[in-house]
Amino acid sequence: MGSRMVLLLSAPSHYRLILMSKIKHPELAAKGRQELAWAEAHMPVLGSIRAEFRKTQPFKGLKIGIALHLEKKTGILLRTLRDGGAIVYGASCNPNTTDDATVAALAEESPGKLEVFAWAGQTTDEYYWCIDQVLDGHPNIVIDDGCDLVMRLHEKRPQQLKEIIGGCEETTTGIVRLKAMHKDGALKLPVYAVNNAHSKYLLDNQFGTAQSAIEAIMRATNVILAGKVAVVYGYGWCGRGAASRLKGLGAQVGVVEVEGTLGPHESGQNRALCALYEGYRVMNHAEAAKVGDIFLTVTGNKNVIRREHFELMKDGAILCNAGHFNVEIDEPALRKMSSKVEEVKDNITAYHMKDAKTGKPKTLYLLSEGRLVNLARPSGQGHPCEIMDGSFAIQALCCELLAKSRGKKMAPGVMDVPKEVDDSTAARILKSQGVVLDRPTKEQIAYAEEWKEGT
Ligand SMILES: NC(=O)c1ccc[n+]([C@@H]2O[C@H](COP(=O)([O-])OP(=O)(O)OC[C@H]3O[C@@H](n4cnc5c(N)ncnc54)[C@H](O)[C@@H]3O)[C@@H](O)[C@H]2O)c1
Repeated sequence: MGSRMVLLLSAPSHYRLILMSKIKHPELAAKGRQELAWAEAHMPVLGSIRAEFRKTQPFKGLKIGIALHLEKKTGILLRTLRDGGAIVYGASCNPNTTDDATVAALAEESPGKLEVFAWAGQTTDEYYWCIDQVLDGHPNIVIDDGCDLVMRLHEKRPQQLKEIIGGCEETTTGIVRLKAMHKDGALKLPVYAVNNAHSKYLLDNQFGTAQSAIEAIMRATNVILAGKVAVVYGYGWCGRGAASRLKGLGAQVGVVEVEGTLGPHESGQNRALCALYEGYRVMNHAEAAKVGDIFLTVTGNKNVIRREHFELMKDGAILCNAGHFNVEIDEPALRKMSSKVEEVKDNITAYHMKDAKTGKPKTLYLLSEGRLVNLARPSGQGHPCEIMDGSFAIQALCCELLAKSRGKKMAPGVMDVPKEVDDSTAARILKSQGVVLDRPTKEQIAYAEEWKEGT
């Protein structure tokens, strides 16, 4: 375990503990630098923001605490914030998604300005220990992915809330939790819902999750997807992307939705209808369990696939999850049903059991312990660089807005990313891809605002 910890004399009679990076594989730093260089070369939008921040120093005098998947693309966000004048402390938002090489490189890059506390394969205690290190840094701005950092802050360190200007949340599940906290009057911070910016969820959730989840399934299993029945649970932004790309690879795609509105979006019925008219076979849980070869959950919900469904599944079925938490597939139930559980390969666990109906031996395979398949190492590499370039551009710009609001008290709650930030990020991404749009003519603008008959 690589760790640097020093005691700094800050006043004659006081020693102040300065926490420094804690990582597991310092020997991987050279590899990490290569990974970061590759990501940097493919993240031009964040690069342009970083160049601006170097001049304007929006975060001078501020500390930013981060809980995000710590891998190469996130490294570029951390560098951007640091170069904008912040002291940055980073932990992971998931026990298994850290890239040890990336954090090794970051840990030795700029001691005192950028410190990371993370390694792959953490226990729950280690995971929260790392988040606590970030909070020990007394951040003024927080960036979260899934709301664990913000919840920890409210539950264990309420006295630190007054030091914080506000936060940014990266994912759907985090927004759902923040809104629940706000409804209960528990949220004491203003938090930008970065996930809800069009230039985030339309790209990251839809196209990023699709490519990275399917890539991880293929790397872990090395099986052909064409001809297989692939079932996607949840036809939200992540689900529709995954379904479309699975179809493109030749899979027969089924979609499972539920009735009602479980999140800040249209109902499951409407989403199921969209899936149907997109050409997918829309099924209920029992129908899907019987026919699927590969099952992918992306609902943000709990126990979506459970015992009654495992019982119906075919021998050899492969299960995985790309929703934020590892609760979508009921792994404890799967384990309980099994006579033997074994790791058969990196990222693949086999659950051996007798088929409930025929009594014949049956094995179900779970990828990455039911955690985010697209980020669990070694098969999960996370979203493509260009996707995270857009998502992290919004994070960086929202942090700048928070920094600018220093001294002005913003009301606690979940805030929309301002339209200007959203649209300008989309424009920056288009520019980086060499796309130049025409502007509407004056006549067209006027026409769009007319309402009188005959116009
Ligand atoms: N893997 C990644 O990199 C990544 C990226 C972005 C978001 N996420 C996570 O993925 C999850 C989904 O995000 P989203 O933006 O698509 O959310 P969303 O709210 O747009 O869609 C979720 C859908 O799941 C459906 N659903 C809920 N319970 C269900 C059940 N029991 N069975 C079937 N369908 C059910 C809902 O009706 C909804 O349509 C969240 O946890 C989010 O945080 C992961």
